[in-house]
Amino acid sequence: MKILVTGGLGYIGSHTVVELQSAGFNVVIIDNLSNSKIEVLDKITQITGIKPGYFNFDLSNKTACEEFFSNNNNIDGIIHFAAYKAVGESVNKPLMYYRNNLESLMNIMDNMNIHNIANLVFSSSCTVYGQPDVLPVTEQAPRKQAESPYGNTKKMAEDIIQDTVYSSDLKAIALRYFNPVGAHPTALIGELPLGVPNNLMPFITQTAAGIREQLSVFGEDYDTADGTAIRDYIHVVDLAKAHIIAVKRLVEKNNKLDYEIFNIGTGNGYSVLEVVKSFERVTNTKLNYKIVGRREGDIEKVWANTDFANNELGWKAEKDIDEMTASAWKFQLALK
Ligand code: UFG
Repeated sequence: MKILVTGGLGYIGSHTVVELQSAGFNVVIIDNLSNSKIEVLDKITQITGIKPGYFNFDLSNKTACEEFFSNNNNIDGIIHFAAYKAVGESVNKPLMYYRNNLESLMNIMDNMNIHNIANLVFSSSCTVYGQPDVLPVTEQAPRKQAESPYGNTKKMAEDIIQDTVYSSDLKAIALRYFNPVGAHPTALIGELPLGVPNNLMPFITQTAAGIREQLSVFGEDYDTADGTAIRDYIHVVDLAKAHIIAVKRLVEKNNKLDYEIFNIGTGNGYSVLEVVKSFERVTNTKLNYKIVGRREGDIEKVWANTDFANNELGWKAEKDIDEMTASAWKFQLALK
């Protein structure tokens, strides 16, 4: 069984490639290294003992995309990660985000239709829910106005996929991730943010490692127990495993609808300070942090209702918050 993983050298992509190979799938990666490093290919090979196929080109390049699919047949399914993902950058460069994230998707789906590749797993985000009215949020919750062009590309991509599925033989599963954190237990792959991290976990580990002076905790006046914002953090290995189950479901034709959506989270919400406390507990250190004002565009609290994924996919997150912070720290230490 051959699975194409776009963005397979990125953070979630690389963990998914490892899980796919471990489950016996033959993997081909397309990654243009726009936010990843070629060394990751060797790390994947070190972990699994199998070197995945690898192609470096930009999926928003229609000609390059057509050439790839003409020369590579027998692909049973595609897991599409490749996309820009920096919320702040997307506000300043919206066209770059719309062009890259949507044209690549449309090029892939054009070729899926031409080459009769039926199965697509798409990486969506809980960002489509905005601030939900009801928590934990279910897949049926209304999607809200996106907070950023990045978030809007996820929402628009879901719509593009849904419309294409209804007009073709394509089958798709959109996985709406909550907040992926942590790293592979080998510490060979993990999150490699370029420059100053935007996300909480890499900022915590870089602060503890002395790369950043201090963590700013954005806001302590939210309507939560300790006043800091709540998210559903999910270990990247648990998240990667959900992709294997999703792609198998499609390939083995066990899907109930042609287009399905699943929340992929733990179902537990943790505040920023609870994540900091977990980090301090597992590393036995004190983290230098200071409470500052809210960050623009942040929502107050979100966590997943995971019943549908648990019952229908038979998937459940296994790793708790301490395993997430501990593995993120182990990866940070291995980078030095
Ligand atoms: N936070 C801090 N300090 C930091 C970084 C983050 O206090 O230096 C806080 C944030 O304010 C937020 C929480 O930590 O309350 C989590 O922030 P992240 O940036 O790690 O994650 P977000 O929930 O903001 O972002 C995630 C995904 C995005 C997605 C977004 C949608 O990373 O891709 O959810 O809500 F768009």
